[in-house]
Amino acid sequence: MLSKAMIDSLNDQIQLESYSSNLYLQMSAWAEIKGLEGCAAFLRAQAQDELAHMHRLFKYVYETGALPVIGTIKAPPTKYKSVSEVFQQVHEHERFITGKINDLMSLALGEQDHSTANFLQWYVAEQHEEEHTMQKILDKIKNIGETGSGVYFIDRAIGMIAGEK
Ligand code: FEO
Repeated sequence: MLSKAMIDSLNDQIQLESYSSNLYLQMSAWAEIKGLEGCAAFLRAQAQDELAHMHRLFKYVYETGALPVIGTIKAPPTKYKSVSEVFQQVHEHERFITGKINDLMSLALGEQDHSTANFLQWYVAEQHEEEHTMQKILDKIKNIGETGSGVYFIDRAIGMIAGEK
């Protein structure tokens, strides 16, 4: 049985993972409109991953006998200046999510809620993976550069990462 504080925090995370999914799907629309098919494919796949993260939390909460609550999900931004701006924002957002997962883990450990701590371990590993992927993408963008045909090659490189997902 979960504490009230834990149920509320897990529900906040459900809301955040839903927002993450919408954020990346909205970013994929920006990329699609700009003809950046590789970036769009990557961001769509990322949006699907976030939805899976949300469902994993949702299931865990109801399995404990508590009520998962999705809540209100704010609208994500629609306008971006460049590919690097998009992926910088993704990277920043993932760092923010890592902080939230760490907060949840601290709460679970503080309450000696070993079941939730064990459940959250998967998210700790996932955040490590996601931050690493975003750093790799930012490095590629920096190395290739967005001038001239650079954006074309960046889009291809990110599209290949999407294909590996
Ligand atoms: Fe579900 Fe990218 O954090």
